[in-house]
Amino acid sequence: MACAQRYVNKVVIVTGGTRGIGRGIVKVFDPPHKPTDETTADEFRDLLNLNLISYFLASKYALPYLRKTQGNIINLSSLVTSIGQKDAAPYVATKGAITAMTKAMAVDESRYQVRVNCISPGNIRTPLWEELAGLTENPSATIKGGENAQRSNPERSDRQSGAVAPTRTSLPFISAAMAALRTALNGRFLHPLSLSCGSLRFVSSSFKAADLTIERNPVLKPKPDPSTLVFGKQFSDHMLTINWSAAGGWEAPHIKPFQNLSLHPASSALHYSIELFEGMKAFRGVDNHIRLFRPMLNMERMYRSAERSCLPLFDKVELWKCISKLVEIDQEWVPYSTDASLYIRPTFIGTEPSLGVSRTGHALLFVIVGPVGPYFATGGFSPVSLLADPQYVRAWRGGVGEYKMGGNYGPTIAVQSEAAKQGCQQVLWLYGENEEITEVGTMNLFIYWTTEKGEKELVTPPLDGIILPGVTRQSLLDLAREWGDFKVTERQVLMQELIGALDDGRILEVFGSGTACVVCPVGSLLYGGKTFQIPTMKNGPDLAKRFHKELTDIQSWLDNFMFMITLVC
Ligand SMILES: Cc1ncc(COP(=O)(O)O)c(C=O)c1O
Repeated sequence: MACAQRYVNKVVIVTGGTRGIGRGIVKVFDPPHKPTDETTADEFRDLLNLNLISYFLASKYALPYLRKTQGNIINLSSLVTSIGQKDAAPYVATKGAITAMTKAMAVDESRYQVRVNCISPGNIRTPLWEELAGLTENPSATIKGGENAQRSNPERSDRQSGAVAPTRTSLPFISAAMAALRTALNGRFLHPLSLSCGSLRFVSSSFKAADLTIERNPVLKPKPDPSTLVFGKQFSDHMLTINWSAAGGWEAPHIKPFQNLSLHPASSALHYSIELFEGMKAFRGVDNHIRLFRPMLNMERMYRSAERSCLPLFDKVELWKCISKLVEIDQEWVPYSTDASLYIRPTFIGTEPSLGVSRTGHALLFVIVGPVGPYFATGGFSPVSLLADPQYVRAWRGGVGEYKMGGNYGPTIAVQSEAAKQGCQQVLWLYGENEEITEVGTMNLFIYWTTEKGEKELVTPPLDGIILPGVTRQSLLDLAREWGDFKVTERQVLMQELIGALDDGRILEVFGSGTACVVCPVGSLLYGGKTFQIPTMKNGPDLAKRFHKELTDIQSWLDNFMFMITLVC
């Protein structure tokens, strides 16, 4: 326990990984050549001790940022995701080892009040990297820059052998990756970071979580039984509101009792749909801590939607902190169940009290939260039937389909009703003369098939302007790429290709992905007056189930090595 004592009040970041920013550190992390079950917690701690100083500690950017946003951090990394399942197996330090380490540290957590926060390892797409990259103007270019820096490192081939060199020569690579980040940030990095680094603050173009005023609700409602929850019908005791005006800028954020809004009847949101929203969840883990799942991806999407709506911009980290505070205050509303969660609905509306069609001079950002149950009430998957009718279009190139604006959703309700009339549960949205397959209902679409060349492939439409960049979509792609068990492709798929593959018997599974369901199997398709059966359920659905288990385990804190899940309380 003396070892654990040393962590108290310290930020300790441990990274492993043969790739990305953490590369070169893993060498000091020689995994035990012992079965996981025979490795004691102390032995795992020794490994951690060996690996205490990661490159991040040397990074003058990451550390202050993490200190400020996360408090005490012990950050374990996964050998599985760092060297891959195949390579990790011989080392025995498999997922179980990480879980065991996490459990060992969790003991320390409760005894010594240390926060244990596991994120993925030194892959360039570590969530930290992703999060920092998200603060730049062009996150994907930033990540690409880092990846390119990674590729230029000749030692990368070590990964294949599983032999990891403890090398000082990897430091230039790491520096290159960091330099790529800094270059890509082009000065912008300092701006958001400075907002979160206390004395370095120099910009006030956003509200700040530090200015939050909190008015507690004196009357708390009884919490519903998690088994009776209906999506979007129950709300917690508090809400977050933040007002903005062109003349006065952002006002201080305010957490107050849940209540109706008072709006001028000419408010621009009501007339011209100057409105956007987000959908994300807080989960109560098996350790009873509450976490958000990849919240920065939602913050980034919301920011992009705000830009496109001519609504005022804000600091994404500050909004995330305000939301975390709201969830903390309403923490009893996060169901004590790994099947249910707290749905979080950040919303941003134009409140300009004028009928002119112009940039709004007044706006209100508010966040409401409420408990939601499992998407599949039965506990098992139930497949949905789809109507694919090319006369209906959800989004078009040059339009706003890639943003989460209310205006994209209202018009789909009539089409959804038409689908219901024809006996289908959801709409498969097609686009263009070639009938590109785009999304399904309010979910991204995945097809798992055998290609004409006989390869197993998971394919989803690319983010080319008409697809909403789903957080779940990204997570499934990240998981599948980490597994490396089949080809993963983002490309356009035409309706004729899907029908052809169905005729050839090459379709394995078709499913939607989204925060609400994680994955939702598709069972049939009504297209051109003909119903096509899709063999998703016949095939398990093995892949959909694997994704579902992996993501829900991460969210329940049973399996925690893949994504950063921000601890709320
Ligand atoms: C049109 C559309 N596509 C996809 C998604 C899935 O996105 P996410 O995984 O972030 O929930 C949503 C979510 O609401 C959506 O509205």
